[in-house]
Amino acid sequence: MYCTRKITDDLTWVGANDRRLAMFEGVYSVPAGVSYNSYLLKDEKTVLFDTVDKAVRELFLENVAESLGGRPLDYIVVQHMEPDHSAAIMEMLAYHPGATLVCNAKTLGFIKQFYDFKDEARVLVVKEGDALETGKHRLSFIMAPMVHWPEVMVTYDATDKILFSADAFGCFGALNGAMFSDEVDFEKDYMDEARRYYTNIVGKYGVQVQSLLAKASAAPIEMICPLHGFVIRKNIGGFVDKYALWSAYEPEEQGVMIAYASVYGHTENAAEILAGKLSVAGVKTVMYDVSVTPASEIVSAAFKWSHLVFASTTYNAGIFVTMETVIFDLAAHNIQNRTVAIIENGSWAPTSGGLMRALLEKCKNMRFVENTLTLRSSLKAEQLPQLDAMAGAILATFPKPVPASGATAAVTGAIAREAMFRLSYGLFVLTAREDGRDNGCIINTVTQVTDSPARVSIAVNKKNHTHDMILRTRVFNASVLTESARFSLFERFGFSSGRDSDKFAGFEGGQRAANGLLYVAESVNAVISGKVFEAHDCGTHTLFVADVTEAFALNDEPSVTYSYYFEHIKPKPQPPKGAKKGFVCKICGYVHEGETLPADFICPLCKHGAADFEPV
Ligand code: FEO
Repeated sequence: MYCTRKITDDLTWVGANDRRLAMFEGVYSVPAGVSYNSYLLKDEKTVLFDTVDKAVRELFLENVAESLGGRPLDYIVVQHMEPDHSAAIMEMLAYHPGATLVCNAKTLGFIKQFYDFKDEARVLVVKEGDALETGKHRLSFIMAPMVHWPEVMVTYDATDKILFSADAFGCFGALNGAMFSDEVDFEKDYMDEARRYYTNIVGKYGVQVQSLLAKASAAPIEMICPLHGFVIRKNIGGFVDKYALWSAYEPEEQGVMIAYASVYGHTENAAEILAGKLSVAGVKTVMYDVSVTPASEIVSAAFKWSHLVFASTTYNAGIFVTMETVIFDLAAHNIQNRTVAIIENGSWAPTSGGLMRALLEKCKNMRFVENTLTLRSSLKAEQLPQLDAMAGAILATFPKPVPASGATAAVTGAIAREAMFRLSYGLFVLTAREDGRDNGCIINTVTQVTDSPARVSIAVNKKNHTHDMILRTRVFNASVLTESARFSLFERFGFSSGRDSDKFAGFEGGQRAANGLLYVAESVNAVISGKVFEAHDCGTHTLFVADVTEAFALNDEPSVTYSYYFEHIKPKPQPPKGAKKGFVCKICGYVHEGETLPADFICPLCKHGAADFEPV
């Protein structure tokens, strides 16, 4: 029985899922299966975009026949000749004698290599920028060599602004009912598989991916139809941003990935102690046993994290087999721009460290932590200082955090909070919108970066729900608050979390800007809309740098400053009646009861640190 899905009025998904496949391309485990996507456009002419793998050919043929509804197939666009997408081309040509194959010259060569095909009269050879009118729709072809194979091209439907992206923007995993990425929690449930797909399938070809991104960005894209995984119709910018990062070999997150090979657990022991030291110092760490975790997952993780530690026993006078596979794989996929530390083990002739480093040195822009740790069978107590030194050397390469409690002495190297308080700040309501839900928070960190083009930066605490929304949607509004702002406005947007409450509930001062997001129109003198193009992990905060997409002034009231807020708006904090010993937050009045206040205490209401508390 056919199984198809409508994508638009004119476009139908006629692909199929395979949940029995163990190893995609014979090498990548796909425990959640894989989808082979094919799309049928029904215009005045009918157009099929690619076919499927032979494993699901039977259902595919039924899908196409049903979707055509008795009409003939006019065009078969072949974007990619890898057999997981081209296994049914010959059947399509046989069933539809009037159909024309649309492909580039390279593809035609591959068709002849894979099949006994000689009927060139049925082929329309296209090149970069060529277009095909099918009635209402105008399809143009963009060459994308090496985004995965040399013949790859993608297709842009200018009518519905759809990019048929071939392997780009694909994802491992069968489609389990949901067809669109916004119908699932993609960030939580599928981003790791999208990254694993990208890094292992096209990770080697970052330059070519960037070239495709540049060419494709010339026209507006409202939907992406890849050959594997979900159709993307929301947060397209977020997906493009991921591809921009991955193809530039830039890490997504600051943190340490530790991959270890350990036959009897001693190398693992050293790796775990190192992970503990780094974690205590506040660094995110992940660990993989290379003999257990598939290499494709470790390659994917290496593309995600900024720092890589490889710990391996010596085996047959070389690198342990599974670690060697991982490192060869990383080099083959062009890993770059990482900080690397190495631990080696060898009971009589440790060589794995030097060999691992020699392989990784061939990768571009790898920075090595110099003090490789050598174990002789097992870590000894007298080597702990070496492990400390390695942890310290790794930590030294991370951005320096500002201490939670400020030093006041005006000595060289100290950070006096008083000095930081001398900076002037405005106050702003930062708003975001995701999946139809509006949210906002108070920030004091909107700064103009450049005038032309107009760009601003905002630093947002990661604990704020608005932060997560902007990280995913990449758009925001900043409403510039004025001196007439009442404390209740700060309470509404500053002292509760959007995770637990609707901050706009009952609020009548919100209006929508051109980007569709709410802004605050009361006690506000200007609104700035931003579209994020860079996000930097700064520890507790993310610094977003954004293009200004819209900005307008509302009135001439003076903007409120942080110091004006403290002097004239914020009521003096009063400890609640009956409060015992404790500490009161000078920012929002929250009281923490107890004899002491931990140095790393964060106010649960306004997210300010221990330095902003005073004894009750
Ligand atoms: Fe899914 Fe490169 O083919």
